[in-house]
Amino acid sequence: MHDDAETRLTFESSSEADTKRLGHALAAVLPPGAVVALHGPLGAGKTRLVQAIAEAAGIERGEVVSPTFVLIQEHYGRQTIFHIDAYRLAGAEEFRQLGGEEYFHPGGAGWTFVEWADRIDECLPAELLRITIEPLDAERRRIKMTAHGRRLSDTLATLAGHLGID
Ligand SMILES: Nc1ncnc2c1ncn2[C@@H]1O[C@H](COP(=O)(O)OP(=O)(O)O)[C@@H](O)[C@H]1O
Ligand SMILES: [Mg+2]
Repeated sequence: MHDDAETRLTFESSSEADTKRLGHALAAVLPPGAVVALHGPLGAGKTRLVQAIAEAAGIERGEVVSPTFVLIQEHYGRQTIFHIDAYRLAGAEEFRQLGGEEYFHPGGAGWTFVEWADRIDECLPAELLRITIEPLDAERRRIKMTAHGRRLSDTLATLAGHLGID
């Protein structure tokens, strides 16, 4: 069945604390097997957001670092978190050869976060939450979220309710 539902939500973050609040709210609503693609320049806050989500799942923030020198880091808390950084990959082909697509099983357990997801765009699953973080100044970030697929569209609608935004 073709599921072309798409929902967008923008969160304006004025501080790291705001981004943390978004991360905690996301952790409360993300369904099992969610795959989240993170976009934005170096220092945008991609890792900060994953840290906040991990923290809410009972994983210590210090454990979660940009996995730049390994393809993937796994964390086990109340949720399993697979944290991928595609920055150093030559591209989608290398990602496939390393077995990266294993971590894209919507409906499976755990959540998968991909930093520099544009590097492996063609490998990403159809059911996907895309998050683009745009730095506006030293502290402010515009965080745009786009859900692809019914299930994650519902997730974003619930998130909007929790955050009191639309
Ligand atoms: N509103 C904000 N949200 C997230 N990070 C912020 C914010 N304001 C400032 N920062 C800083 O921006 C940096 C983000 O770093 P990081 O998460 O490692 O970026 P990335 O993974 O996108 O390269 C951190 O130094 C953090 O303290
Ligand atoms: Mg990072």
